[in-house]
Amino acid sequence: MVSQTQKLNASTGFASFLKSKWRSRDERPSRPQTINAMTDVERDYVRHSALKLALDGDFQAPIHQLLKSGGSEILDIGCGAGFWTTDMAAKYPISHFTGIDIDKDIFPTSGVTRNVIFQRVDLLELPLPYENDTFDYIFIRCMMDVVPDEDWDDVLNELVRIMKKGGYIECLETYPDLFDTGPAMSTIMQLVNADKSSPDEPASMVLNPLPNRMAAINQLMGMQIKHLHTPVGRYGGAMGALLLEHWVRIIESSKQKWIQNKLIGEKQLAATLEELQQEVDVYQTYMSWYSVVAQKKGYKGPIIRVEDYDTLQSQE
Ligand SMILES: C[S@@+](CC[C@H](N)C(=O)[O-])C[C@H]1O[C@@H](n2cnc3c(N)ncnc32)[C@H](O)[C@@H]1O
Repeated sequence: MVSQTQKLNASTGFASFLKSKWRSRDERPSRPQTINAMTDVERDYVRHSALKLALDGDFQAPIHQLLKSGGSEILDIGCGAGFWTTDMAAKYPISHFTGIDIDKDIFPTSGVTRNVIFQRVDLLELPLPYENDTFDYIFIRCMMDVVPDEDWDDVLNELVRIMKKGGYIECLETYPDLFDTGPAMSTIMQLVNADKSSPDEPASMVLNPLPNRMAAINQLMGMQIKHLHTPVGRYGGAMGALLLEHWVRIIESSKQKWIQNKLIGEKQLAATLEELQQEVDVYQTYMSWYSVVAQKKGYKGPIIRVEDYDTLQSQE
């Protein structure tokens, strides 16, 4: 992780590191909304690296032994540039990973192990192109803004259909607002929220929609919700520095729109951006996440216990 942080500090080095793995999309003349720019890929990578530190790994579900024993099928929903998928596939080389995204040009073009495939699939075009009971584990991260509120129930029910009985689903999402913000970050929060609202539909506080929706699906059981609070700012070490970097990148990619829409002046935004990078340390600003893990009912086979060879070795 230290080396990733170092890469972030050298921003040109960071961009070329990503470009060597993922194609740049900035040159495209016109892009529909669902096409990711290079800046989106970079921002996702920064967040992915921060979450790895925050979770001390890549997931919460109790699936380590299953994936390690091999033969499992794993689906990463809205995989983007496949940072999670490729890391997991390298860690569990005898399980099989499928990453799906609506933007096929974002998929990695090198450095991918043989146990991964990427497929262009639109999550909103149901049914998804998979048989019933296909996947042992489905992972969804940072998709809250991507799936419209009214589609979530159908999407979740469809994901449960393609899960194997006894398989796990895990969602990791962030709460939209930052906490313990100073004046500069509060200004940014207002701009971000103004972006999300429309004249017909003011920004609403959707709190924890996934746990409630998953609890309503009677084919799921054993739901576990965890909350996680992560520092945003250098006061929080490498993780905090990465999440500050993430927010700076959000601001950079939204600033033209905010200025054009006269939500803020260019000079005021520049000053706000500078101020908030010190301010987050003073106010100890943080963001909050929740993960929801649940298991599909109906597995009637034997409970398979796989001894962890590494753990046994270390106990000797
Ligand atoms: C915020 S990114 C999250 C990427 C990844 N899950 C992560 O945690 O780094 C959202 C992703 O959803 C994809 N996406 C947007 N609409 C989609 C759809 N209808 N079906 C599938 N993927 C979609 C985008 O292309 C983008 O890669």
